Amino acid sequence: MNLVLLGAPGAGKGTQAEKIQHALNIPILSTGNLLRQAIAAGTELGRKAQTYMDGGNLVPDELIIGLVAERLKSPDCANGVIFDGFPRTLPQAQALDRAAKVDVVLSIEVADETIMQRMSGRRTCPQCQASYHVTDNPPQKEGVCDKCGAQLSIRHDDEPDTVRSRLEVYHRQTEPIKEYYGAQGKLKKVQGQPKLADTVKLVSEALGVSL
Ligand code: AP5
Repeated sequence: MNLVLLGAPGAGKGTQAEKIQHALNIPILSTGNLLRQAIAAGTELGRKAQTYMDGGNLVPDELIIGLVAERLKSPDCANGVIFDGFPRTLPQAQALDRAAKVDVVLSIEVADETIMQRMSGRRTCPQCQASYHVTDNPPQKEGVCDKCGAQLSIRHDDEPDTVRSRLEVYHRQTEPIKEYYGAQGKLKKVQGQPKLADTVKLVSEALGVSL
């Protein structure tokens, strides 16, 4: 199954993607994580992407489409992929349609005020990219990743001003693609809930898989 997760920054795409990955046994393709890895590795793509990301803006389509095309060549993508953070523009959605058959698009809907509150509590693993929240989804040991034991940190683009810019960019550039997928009959919507377990339940029902 090729599944696209849509939603504002901090809506919970990465958190749900991890749960779905275990249930469906297909990889997550997170363009945000691929870009952060490229920045950490000091590649040319990483250098180009960093300025856009630090400002809360989208990285140009041609860079992202090339990045995704490369990742999709890996054998582990043969049985399907969970797309997290891609596509984010109409040209990206059209490029994805040329590269793979999208089966379902799940939009996680969360109000902007809730996003602003959530992002201030997010902690991320710089090594395996797992996402936590200090009160709503804490790691077993404070400040330490449950999965790989690395020290958790606050993401560079989670500063309140940058989150505001990312939300504005989301509403202007990404939300319109809901209409594109709606017209194809592939769009499902889930209301993000205050409690993580409640959102997981709704996602599970929407996809018809046990999470
Ligand atoms: P990216 O890394 O994709 O960031 P994003 O979409 O802004 O999404 P986030 O990772 O911030 O949030 P999320 O929805 O995964 O939420 P999470 O599960 O962590 O992109 C970063 C940047 O890269 C972009 O700004 C752009 O510059 C560039 N980029 C990436 N892809 C691109 C593309 N395709 N085109 C162009 N540019 C691109 O959850 C957030 C927090 O909430 C966590 O703390 C979590 O524990 C908590 N939480 C989650 N669900 C719940 C719940 N139900 N209740 C309570 N807390 C919850």
